[in-house]
This record gives sequence, C-alpha cells and structure tokens, in this order.
Amino acid sequence: MQFPIDRFQQQTTPFYYYDLRILQNTLEAAKRAVEEYDNYHLHYAIKANTNPKILKQISLSGFGADCVSGGEIKAALAAGFPASSIVFAGVGKADWEIKLALEAQISCFNVESIPELYVINDLAAEQRVRANIAFRITPNIDAHTNAKITTGLNENKFGIAMEDMVSAVKEAKSLPYINYMGLHFHIGSQILDCSSFAVLSERINELQDQLDAESIKTSSINVGGGLGVDYEHPDEHLIPDFKKYVNTFRQHLKLRSGQQVHFELGRSIVAQCGTLISRILYIKGGHHKKFIILDAGFTDLIRPAMYDAFHLVQNLTTTAQKVEKYDIVGPICESSDVFIKDFNMPEGKRGDLIAFRSAGAYGEIMASQYNCRPLPNSIISE
Ligand code: LLP
Repeated sequence: MQFPIDRFQQQTTPFYYYDLRILQNTLEAAKRAVEEYDNYHLHYAIKANTNPKILKQISLSGFGADCVSGGEIKAALAAGFPASSIVFAGVGKADWEIKLALEAQISCFNVESIPELYVINDLAAEQRVRANIAFRITPNIDAHTNAKITTGLNENKFGIAMEDMVSAVKEAKSLPYINYMGLHFHIGSQILDCSSFAVLSERINELQDQLDAESIKTSSINVGGGLGVDYEHPDEHLIPDFKKYVNTFRQHLKLRSGQQVHFELGRSIVAQCGTLISRILYIKGGHHKKFIILDAGFTDLIRPAMYDAFHLVQNLTTTAQKVEKYDIVGPICESSDVFIKDFNMPEGKRGDLIAFRSAGAYGEIMASQYNCRPLPNSIISE
C-alpha cells in the first residue's frame, strides 16, 4: 500500500488515513461475489466504522445498513442508506430507539428476546404500524475466534435459544402489530475458517425443518457478518475472499422458495482501507527493553489493549538497515497501553511516522477521550 508521506508530514498526529480506492475495490469484490444471486443482499455493519465519508461511499455502492443503536440508524440515514435497507439488532433496544426505527420505517428489527418483542408490539400499536421482525437465534456454534468477540454460543447474552425458536415465532405471529419475517444469526467476528459458516448453514437448515413441520413460512434469513481479514499480511490480502465466503453459503444453505438471504459484514469491508498514523515521541532504552513511545495510545486504537489484537506496525520514515527489538507503547497512564511487545523493526528516531495497518474496522469508532485526550482526526486519500 502506498502512503502520501509528504501530506502526512504536514498533519498533526495521530490520525486515521483512509484509502478510498481500497475501499472501492473491496466493495466491488463483495458485490461481484453476490451478483449472480438476486436473492442475496449485502448490508454493511456500520458499527465497524461510521466515518461519514466511508459511510457515504458504502451507501453509494448499494449496500444496506446493519445498525445496533438509534445513533447508528441516524448515521445510516444521514449517509443516504434507504430506510428500507436498514436492519436493527441489539439486546437492549431502548424505547426511544424503537420509536425512531418505527418512525423511519426501517426494514426489520432483529429481536433478541420475548420481552423486547412485546415492547416493539406496544410501541408499534401506538404508531398504528406493523413492525417487521426477525428473531436472532443463538446457534450454539464455537467459531474459534477471540473469546471477547464470539457471539454464537448459548453462554453469550445474545439472541434466543434454538429450543425456544418455534414458540417464539408462534408468539410473534399472534401479535397484531408484528410481522414475522425471518431468522437472524451472527456467530462471531474475525472468522477466517469458512467451515464455521458451513456449520452455521447446516444449523439453519435444521431450524428451517422445524419451522416447515409447523407450516411456518419464513421469508428472510440473515446470516450476520464475521468474515475475517489478514492482519499479519495486509498487502498480500488487501481484499478478503468474499467469493469463498458466499460460496460456502451457496453450497450448504438450503433455501425455501422465495427466501432472501442477508449478509451484514463490517470488518471485511473496511479494515484494510484504514491506517492509524502516529509519530515517535521518544525512544527510551530501559535496562531490559527498548521502548518506542508514540503519540498514539489505546484511546486511538484500543484493539491491542482490549483483545490482544495484532496490527502490523511499520515505520514510514526511516531508511535504517539496523533492526532493533522494541516494545511499542502509547502515552496513556495505564500499563495496558502497549501496542506490541518485542517487535523487530528498523531502528527508529524521534519524529518518525509509524503506521498501524488494517485499522479501518473498530479503530476510529472505538476511540475515547480518556486522559482528556482529543479524538483522532481522519484524512482521506485524494
Ligand atoms: N452483525 C452483528 C449482529 C454483529 O454483532 C456484528 C459485530 C456484525 C454483524 C459485524 O461483524 P464483522 O463482519 O465486523 O465481524 N470490536 C471487535 C469486534 C466486535 C464485533 C461485534 N459484532 C473488534 O475490534 O475485533
């Protein structure tokens, strides 16, 4: 990936840099993977990045939006996603968020509990509308990803247990202001082994058999998101393998006539187009270690501190041949403010620009102001 270093030199660090060509190539690859199938629909999980320029480009590409809060619904509408393409998930939808979604006439609520179903029915009654809903079902699949980002297991807080699905659907069908549309799933994030999606498809087939046995018609199946990216070798795999991902569902998911399939991808759409750029403040030679102290900390990119996530670190300035082993840390007053330990990279010096690659997903959007730090800026490729 090429960076406009001269432009970077004039900017106050840290900031996020987004390469819109990479984003566009990614969007086109994802669209190509589904183009043959009229009933396959792509949504973008906007929680991954709500930078307005990124959202705009994704909405212009014809994606729908997967939202998890009233704020995200507002952001999606402002970026031009049609309300008819917005789905709304989340275990704790507040009344104001449900009302906002009903007023906007979004396409579907992904309902995560029976108490929530009743609240949506009551609020829809007040507005004299019928709410389209799908049930989020917990498929009890271990997608072998980081424990903090797995979601498809019974022990997680999300969704309705498989054993309760039929009774939940019957309850929904008995409510006057609810229109039952289908089933929703999401088994976790950063999944690189497509066999987990094959297992999910088989599980959905079993659940569909149960609904058939009750003569319940289901019009939509939302398989969630979760496709991972290559954090270790971003330049070799800038564009995720959407074809392989979609083909897994084509091969394993058995659809009933007229059924629509929805995907809600976050990370795989935006991770590789974004980079966090920061500067070396100090190089500190400890007794046992050498530290690179940056002006970016976990307030700018929390994934390493929170999930032990790896982001490839590159020095964009130095031409040094000598390689040193560093702990690369931020300025925040917490010992967890470490990006990476014992990392070999060319010898650096104060002022060098340091890039954290693959930071477009769950980077800028998870930034905080802890220690009264300003939020990072963003700049976009020309
Ligand atoms: N659909 C639902 C219901 C979700 O909960 C998520 C992500 C997605 C779709 C999008 O998943 P993706 O395609 O991005 O894997 N902050 C964490 C990731 C949390 C993911 C939460 N749910 C991280 O930085 O790794």
